[in-house]
Amino acid sequence: MTVLVTGGAGFIGSNFVIDWLAERSEPVINLDKLTYAGNLENLAELRGDPRYVFIRGDIGERPFIERLLRKHTPRAVINFAAESHVDRSIHGPGDFIQTNIVGAFNLLECVRAHFSAMDETARSRFRFLHVSTDEVYGSLDANAPAFSETHRYQPNSPYSASKAASDHLVRAYHHTYGLPVLTTHCSNNYGPCQFPEKLIPLIIVNALAGKHLPIYGDGMQIRDWLYVSDHCAAIRRVLDAGTPGETYNIGGWSEKPNLDIVHAIVDLLDEWRPRADGQSYGEQIAHVADRPGHDRRYAIDAGKIERELSWRPAETFASGLRKTVRWYLDHPDWLANVQSGAYRDWLEKNYVDMDR
Ligand code: NAD
Ligand code: DAU
Repeated sequence: MTVLVTGGAGFIGSNFVIDWLAERSEPVINLDKLTYAGNLENLAELRGDPRYVFIRGDIGERPFIERLLRKHTPRAVINFAAESHVDRSIHGPGDFIQTNIVGAFNLLECVRAHFSAMDETARSRFRFLHVSTDEVYGSLDANAPAFSETHRYQPNSPYSASKAASDHLVRAYHHTYGLPVLTTHCSNNYGPCQFPEKLIPLIIVNALAGKHLPIYGDGMQIRDWLYVSDHCAAIRRVLDAGTPGETYNIGGWSEKPNLDIVHAIVDLLDEWRPRADGQSYGEQIAHVADRPGHDRRYAIDAGKIERELSWRPAETFASGLRKTVRWYLDHPDWLANVQSGAYRDWLEKNYVDMDR
């Protein structure tokens, strides 16, 4: 038995692979294209682990994926692979359409063929888990109830629209072909190994570098925040016990305006790594132009996964943020390699392509 993880060299995928292998003996195949967001250094601790195989490839490369599925016969596919940054989708949506829609379609086609070639026992066990986002539901008014699984789709950015499109394909493959799919919609993740283009690592990195801490608009946009290992645990739970065809919202019951997040990081840095001039890192806060089409509020009602699958987050925002800031302070080499681009050398040094 083995599972195939796509996008497992990115932020959430690498945390997922590491947590999986820490908890279970079942091997993992990690398929990742290694875009700018894929970093094999995230998985360095798995070097030499016989339960782990890394394969470089694109979810949209059909003949290659078909061969891979035939060779490794995974009993589950967990699809993290995506272009994930909203700002990048605004500047250039093309890659988002290609990977998040066309790539997801090609992957589904390969998985459909793989599934139809299975015997009854293997079919009853097989799952395709699609990792989606709360952003497909659009923006909430200040007092509106949190997103439930039946909330209408109203994606507002090219990123969320591309994720919504893939969700619809996944749903259709269940309805039409009987593919046993599961879809999860999670809120904003934070934790170790997040690429410093996203709010929390960007603020940490910029603060330490003496740069501005950019707040889009008034900084009162609200997100729900979840520590990454809690998201990974929720995905394992959905994979193990979720009902095929169902969707599950995953969140931290932790809605916060962006300014509060930035101040919480500033407070930790002021305590743990005070500025040489004795001033607060808060001095570096700068309000900048707002993100076009910026969603005002996301909030997740995670009641279904709690009731049906008994999952709840283990971390509070305070405990998760302390772990996160500590991790970035304790991993200056990881950060330097990401900032300089040296992390891409890992590919040359640590990867021998055996599956082509
Ligand atoms: P990330 O950008 O850090 O990682 C994405 C990974 O996918 C990278 O390793 C990249 O190399 C790989 N990839 C990109 N295109 C690929 C392709 N065509 N074929 C194979 N691999 C490819 O993203 P993340 O933050 O880890 O998010 C992972 C998934 O979770 C995404 O689907 C995202 O939409 C979803 N999600 C993210 C969050 C969040 O807060 N980060 C919240 C909810 C859902
Ligand atoms: O909600 C889940 C989504 O969360 C995921 O699907 C996405 O993959 C993930 O990137 C994230 O999207 P956001 O746009 O919410 O995350 P980001 O970290 O880019 O921004 C968080 C908030 O902070 C958002 O309101 C924009 C704001 N922001 C962001 C950056 C990078 C700033 O004010 N300044 C910044 O420099």
